[in-house]
Formats: sequence, C-alpha cells, structure tokens
Amino acid sequence: MIQLKDLDKYIESRFQRIFILKGLNLTINEGEFITLMGPSGAGKSSLLNILGLLDDDYAGEYSFGGKDIKSMKDKERSSLHKSEFGYIFQAYHLIDELTVYENIETPLLYRNVSSAERKSIIANLLDRFNMVAKKDLFPAQLSGGQQQLVGVARAIAGRPRVLLADEPTGNLHSGQAREIMEVFQELHKEGTTIIQATHARENADFGTRLINLIDGRIEKDEVIIQK
Ligand SMILES: Nc1ncnc2c1ncn2[C@@H]1O[C@H](COP(=O)(O)OP(=O)(O)O)[C@@H](O)[C@H]1O
Ligand SMILES: [Mg+2]
Repeated sequence: MIQLKDLDKYIESRFQRIFILKGLNLTINEGEFITLMGPSGAGKSSLLNILGLLDDDYAGEYSFGGKDIKSMKDKERSSLHKSEFGYIFQAYHLIDELTVYENIETPLLYRNVSSAERKSIIANLLDRFNMVAKKDLFPAQLSGGQQQLVGVARAIAGRPRVLLADEPTGNLHSGQAREIMEVFQELHKEGTTIIQATHARENADFGTRLINLIDGRIEKDEVIIQK
C-alpha cells in the first residue's frame, strides 16, 4: 500500500546538508501494525509527517496505493490525507475552542457522515474512553492524559485506513497506555494499518513489525511474533 524509494529528507545549513532521513526504502502492506523506535532525533516524527502527507519537502519517491504522491495535485493529496489517514500527534493538537465532543466530531464532518451516525460513533468512543461526563468540556479543562485520549478518539472516529500515531502513550499512565494499545490491537484486527512511533518497547509487542531508526536510517526491521 505504501512504498518509499530512496527517500531523503534534509535541511541545508550554511556549510553542509544535514540529513534527517537518509536513503529510506520501505514497503508497508495494508493491515500491518508497525512500531517505529529509535533515540530522540532519529527521525521518527519526520517520517510519520511524510507518510501522513503533512510534509512534502523530501527527495525520493513515496507512492500510496500505487500512486506517486509528488505527482498528485494539492487538492488530490489533501483529499487523500483526509479520507485515508488518522493522525495522533505527540502534542494533542486539539482545537481549543471546541468541546471534547466537537473535537472528536471534526474528522466525521470531513467525511460527510450523517448526523445520527456521528452521534452514535461519538457516544461509543466517549464510552470506550470513559469520557462521557467530559464531553462538553474544553481541552484546557482536561489533564494531559485525558487530552491524549481525546486525540486518539478523534483520530479513530473516521475509521481511517491508516492510523499514524506519534508517541500515543507518551503522556499516559500505564493503565491508560495499555488501554490505547488494546484499542490499536482491535483496530488492527479490523484491518486498519497502524504505524506508531514510541519509546516504550512494550508497545511494540502489540504490533507485527518493529523498525528501528537511527540517525535517519533504518537500522533494523524485524517481525514481531504475536504471543
Ligand atoms: N524543520 C526542521 N528543521 C530543522 N531540523 C529539524 C526539523 N525537523 C526535524 N529536525 C531535526 O531532525 C531530526 C529528527 O527529528 P524528529 O523527526 O523529530 O526525530 P524523533 O521523532 O525521532 O525524535 C532532529 O535532529 C531534529 O532536530
Ligand atoms: Mg518525535
């Protein structure tokens, strides 16, 4: 489904080119659950941004479903981004002026989901994350962990084909972290392709493949055997 060929991302400093990602060759099949690990600064977030079509400043090839991303028109790329990807950001990125309920609703509005269906999807998610009582609060009224849960609920509300998650459990205590990984596991069983960046090795055990990035290169790429 996703193919990267000789992908480089770099910045030009005064004296040299600094590589953030270097020579990445990667094939991701539909239904994989991939964990990206590696030290801080290894390029995990940069890679997720490129995969999620949030950054097109790179060299090399990226194709999605056999279509080259660079040769798409902006409109086509942005519609692909909205229709196929769900994105969980490291720093929540919730909309401050919208309530918990409305934040979760946003991706459904892009997808023209009917109002009755939206209500039922959101009710289910609020229930799943124990946030029913918080639905009319604004992000600033929630703890960091609760904001992260809303971010997860929003990303999965539209049932994206590909879920990208940057440190999805970074601000959560271990119980909440496990809950998120169990939600990912269910989505994976339902066929969602998942790519998560994390520092927590235990999160990788929920997935099917572990890729280690070091200095913008793939250092290791291994299959995770499910217990
Ligand atoms: N827009 C940018 N300008 C300059 N340097 C950047 C930019 N984005 C990322 N970097 C650098 O690229 C490297 C990889 O960053 P990042 O992808 O955030 O790594 P990770 O998520 O693995 O911690 C870091 O050294 C970071 O400082
Ligand atoms: Mg990062």
